[in-house]
Amino acid sequence: MTPYDKREGKIWYNNELVEWNDVKLHVLSHGLHYASCVFEGLRVYDGEIFKLEEHTNRLFHSAKRMDIKIPYSEEEINQATKKIVSNQNVQNGYIRPFAWRGSEMMAVSAQKTKIHVAITAWEWGTYFDPKLKTEGIKLNISNWRRPAPNTIPWDTKASGLYMICTLSKHEAERDGYTDSLMLDHEGNVAEATGANIFFKDKNGELHTPIPDSFLDGITRRTVIEIAKSKNIKVHERKISPKELSSFVGCFLTGTAAEVTPVSKILENDYKVCNLILDLSSSYEKLVRKKKAA
Ligand SMILES: Cc1ncc(COP(=O)(O)O)c(C=O)c1O
Repeated sequence: MTPYDKREGKIWYNNELVEWNDVKLHVLSHGLHYASCVFEGLRVYDGEIFKLEEHTNRLFHSAKRMDIKIPYSEEEINQATKKIVSNQNVQNGYIRPFAWRGSEMMAVSAQKTKIHVAITAWEWGTYFDPKLKTEGIKLNISNWRRPAPNTIPWDTKASGLYMICTLSKHEAERDGYTDSLMLDHEGNVAEATGANIFFKDKNGELHTPIPDSFLDGITRRTVIEIAKSKNIKVHERKISPKELSSFVGCFLTGTAAEVTPVSKILENDYKVCNLILDLSSSYEKLVRKKKAA
């Protein structure tokens, strides 16, 4: 695989289109040392950006929560995102906008650092191996917990939140799992390392944790709407890990993960049933709606 610093094309960097390989950040950047960085992840389907405004809005929310003032308006970032997608000619791919603190200060206090913004886009396929979209993925349960809401800006896509996600995912992969289920600070089911989680019960109803200490995914909200439009009941509630054995189905949702069935969480087996495959194909239809219409 071509490393991400050796790709072709341009990157939107501080309001200019710069050659991909020429975008550099200094080793003494505050964002690198103190995780003063926020980002987004969007997808492009058939040349159209899915939920651009919602993602840009969340980028600004994350920045505000991190005391980072992005030196552009949301509309300017929306336009810049469209520009880089078109410049890179991305048809089906991924967009990564991010903002971080520069190198003017190298200490905890960062009041005088410049805020840099970059937007990158590239062609991309599925997050997990495509065959797992029908077979389902296997999760372990992480030893790391999502932090309590009064310990970190939990409702953001801030880089620091992903430290324990990478550790959890590495541990899962070492043990032969695809991903990891993380519990919240009270020991309830929370989410996977980069996606939200849903369960199906014996009556065909869905259950998903209340996002009160982790990201309320844009895909999560979209899938809840799709399910409700199909008259499937969705219960947003606290879910204990003791309940895992009582569910019959499970799936993850996320911009990268889309709707991905889960076939196993430790010793608990789940069926990749028609309801989950149907939700997955309805999501696929929705994201490609504009071109199909
Ligand atoms: C930790 C985490 N949870 C949930 C999600 C799902 O969010 P969304 O559906 O908005 O992509 C993501 C992906 O962005 C994530 O990184």
